[in-house]
Amino acid sequence: MEAERAFHSLVGDLEYPMFIVTARAGREPLGCLVGFATQTSIDPPRFAVCLSHRNRTFRRGRDAGALGVHCVPADAGELAELFGGETTDEVDKFARCAWHEGPGGVPILDECENWFVGRVIWRADAGDHDVFLLEPVAAHAGTGEGEFTFHRAKRIDAGHEA
Ligand SMILES: Cc1cc2nc3c(=O)[nH]c(=O)nc-3n(C[C@H](O)[C@H](O)[C@H](O)COP(=O)(O)O)c2cc1C
Repeated sequence: MEAERAFHSLVGDLEYPMFIVTARAGREPLGCLVGFATQTSIDPPRFAVCLSHRNRTFRRGRDAGALGVHCVPADAGELAELFGGETTDEVDKFARCAWHEGPGGVPILDECENWFVGRVIWRADAGDHDVFLLEPVAAHAGTGEGEFTFHRAKRIDAGHEA
């Protein structure tokens, strides 16, 4: 128990960039704010993202062949609130932001210049989240403007408890 308490305390103090992960289930666009995400390999290029079992993005999108991963710009607080603080169970997030269809129909958010679409090559149960291992198949690198990070994001009241 002591280890668990200390673990929660130390990971709560870490600082890292936030992402918005999008998917498509049939005609329905999905997406949520994600902190559990990291590059896992350079050659071949690989990136892992974790989706909570409670989120609609996971419940409806878990079998998606590809996911969109967006770096959230430092000045995109409203977008982070929309994707982290609201759930598509209740709110049409995509009616409230500008987006277009990217490769494979994956939703791409216009406010985010830095994004990639990754083909899902492996998925596994990782606790209360599933981890999705992605192979980038399309990417766009804009100007680096700074990132919206965890310390700001943790003030958002998540649409679904993890
Ligand atoms: C600081 C912060 C970090 C989060 N990290 C994740 C994450 O790594 N994975 C995830 O699936 N949800 C994460 N969430 C929660 C979802 O973004 C949130 O529950 C969202 O409303 C779910 O939307 P959906 O039901 O439309 O998928 C995080 C939320 C916040 C505020």
